[in-house]
Amino acid sequence: MPFDHNDHYHRLLLRRLPTGARRALDVGCGTGAFARALARRGVEVEAVDRDAAVIAAARADASGIHFRQADIEDLELPPGRYDYISCLASLHHLPIGTLDRLREALAPGGVLVVLGCYREETARDRLIGLAAVPVNAVCRLAVHLRERGTRPGVPAPVAMPTTSLAEVRAYAARHLPGFTLRQLLFWRYLLVHRRAR
Ligand SMILES: C[S@@+](CC[C@H](N)C(=O)[O-])C[C@H]1O[C@@H](n2cnc3c(N)ncnc32)[C@H](O)[C@@H]1O
Repeated sequence: MPFDHNDHYHRLLLRRLPTGARRALDVGCGTGAFARALARRGVEVEAVDRDAAVIAAARADASGIHFRQADIEDLELPPGRYDYISCLASLHHLPIGTLDRLREALAPGGVLVVLGCYREETARDRLIGLAAVPVNAVCRLAVHLRERGTRPGVPAPVAMPTTSLAEVRAYAARHLPGFTLRQLLFWRYLLVHRRAR
């Protein structure tokens, strides 16, 4: 299995899980690795992906998680339902306005985390991307040596990001009060919003 940039950040994302969180939604869950990590923390997880193959793989590898094959854009999200909503490398597949629907679906005190992919735009973006290349190579080798012989998983659909970090920041500033946004090493950012109680 190759080094997976999304899996690499699971621990960082789990640190944002509110104490006592009961119900979570994972949007664009792929084969469900993060949904399983949430379930291991005792959270009731609903996980959605529109791709049939990844949902079938996710269901085969977990019980107690509600994996749903659906387009998140077609789903009615009950307002105030979730204590935690995660989007790992999936927001760039969706209209950015999806953030508003996810915000509304948060319970008071609930947390929205986006591990996002962005379009490189600035010299800083390109420098960080460049710095990630050798680290990525070392991590890939380490994972390859550790996981030699394991069967390859089902690949989740990918897309090129078209939104820059500045555009995500500008949208969040208008729609997600108190948000934080951090640029991460492996071509990702972390956006966090907590709904007021
Ligand atoms: C790059 S993959 C990331 C998968 C997973 N979150 C991970 O961490 O590996 C993006 C996922 O978003 C899903 N996706 C894209 N558009 C979607 C939509 N409109 N509704 C639900 N899932 C969607 C894709 O099928 C794909 O599995």
